[in-house]
Amino acid sequence: MKNFIFKNPTKIIFGKGSIEKLANEIPKGANVLILYGGGSIKKNGIYEQVKKGLANYEVFEFGGIPANPEYSILLKALDFIKKEKITYLLAVGGGSVIDGTKFLSAAALFKGGDPWKLLSDNIRTEVGMPFGTVLTLPATGSEMNSGAVITRAETKEKLAMGGPGLFPLFSILDPQVVASIPERQLANGLTDAFMHVLEQYMTYPIGALLQDRFAESILQTLVEVAPIIRKDPTNYQAASEFMWSCTMALNGLIQQGVPTDWAVHAIGHELTALFGIDHARTLAIIAPSHYAFNFEDKKEKLAQYAERVWNITQGSIDDKAHAAIKKTVGFFHSLGIDTKLSDYTKAYDGTAEKIVKRFTERGWLGLGEHKNLSPDKVEEIVKMAY
Ligand code: NZQ
Ligand code: ZN
Repeated sequence: MKNFIFKNPTKIIFGKGSIEKLANEIPKGANVLILYGGGSIKKNGIYEQVKKGLANYEVFEFGGIPANPEYSILLKALDFIKKEKITYLLAVGGGSVIDGTKFLSAAALFKGGDPWKLLSDNIRTEVGMPFGTVLTLPATGSEMNSGAVITRAETKEKLAMGGPGLFPLFSILDPQVVASIPERQLANGLTDAFMHVLEQYMTYPIGALLQDRFAESILQTLVEVAPIIRKDPTNYQAASEFMWSCTMALNGLIQQGVPTDWAVHAIGHELTALFGIDHARTLAIIAPSHYAFNFEDKKEKLAQYAERVWNITQGSIDDKAHAAIKKTVGFFHSLGIDTKLSDYTKAYDGTAEKIVKRFTERGWLGLGEHKNLSPDKVEEIVKMAY
């Protein structure tokens, strides 16, 4: 196991009816801005619960943060925060609203000029404006981590930012919110969380037995609850498992002391930026090619995953590892998620070259756990995914 330092300060308030506990978490006298997305919270009763929880506060609202939070819209929220002297942010939504709120938390206190620099120069935020979240969509883990991904439509860019100042102070996880999530987003959430685990697991053995088993248990739980939650999102037991698995998949725990990959996400973000494909679906497109292309480097962990998650016990390491890739694709298909770029767009020609040009310009010359995935290899992986 490698050395590590682990600190996750986010307080999790989990369970039925926990949204009403909001008021216990926000300092009295705070000037609160509630941030939300396209309006789902007004249809499913979450908005009323939040307003009730904040009955004794000065509350402002900013709605309309779109999926893949858009920079130009966030700048409007930033103006509002400054004009109304907001002191506390509350994200009510999925990864997009939470990530948008993280950007605002950083930008509100940023002294370095143009806030886009937070993304283009990947400036770490040590201290941000305090914020909490009410999670409405299990998927990204953003509710318990310090990262955010922001989109800029003008330049078709999607870039990440973060830093220790961007952990939510608290996150409220009431699994009852899952009941209103549309099928497409449920499938996205299951896929994104599954891929978060694989990005931190599908590397090479390093003797971190406990982290491996944490990772495998999250994968097993997602596989087990996926059909239940898809059939009946009001199943509270399954919704609880789904929600907590998504949080645990990317709150920092399983990555401690182990090598991590994240190349699938780096490439996937470009597919969202170029074609608007849902984040989770870009991962399902890239992962199978990535694992096939880097087969020799990853086959031991692929085989371990085949055995422990998919119960494939017959055959050589190579046989099991190949079967693991097939099972993964099968799992995505079982969720209704297509795994080829051509399933999403007819205009895929030239995509690999575009991505490689961007990575080269940004100096991303060695991705993956070995930092050896050079642009020419990325090109091949993307072409294999057409
Ligand atoms: O906008 P509203 O109307 O609220 O509708 C949303 C949105 O259309 C809807 N929704 C959310 N909760 C709902 C609901 N509909 C009905 N009932 C509910 N309870 O779902 C749609 C998608 O929401 P979004 O927040 O975009 O989805 P998700 O949570 O999958 O977030 C995706 C974003 O997170 C980033 C992605 O790149 C993408 O921009 N990621 C953030 C990460 C992080 N911060 O750690 C890591 C991830 O790898 C990912 O990159
Ligand atoms: Zn993701």
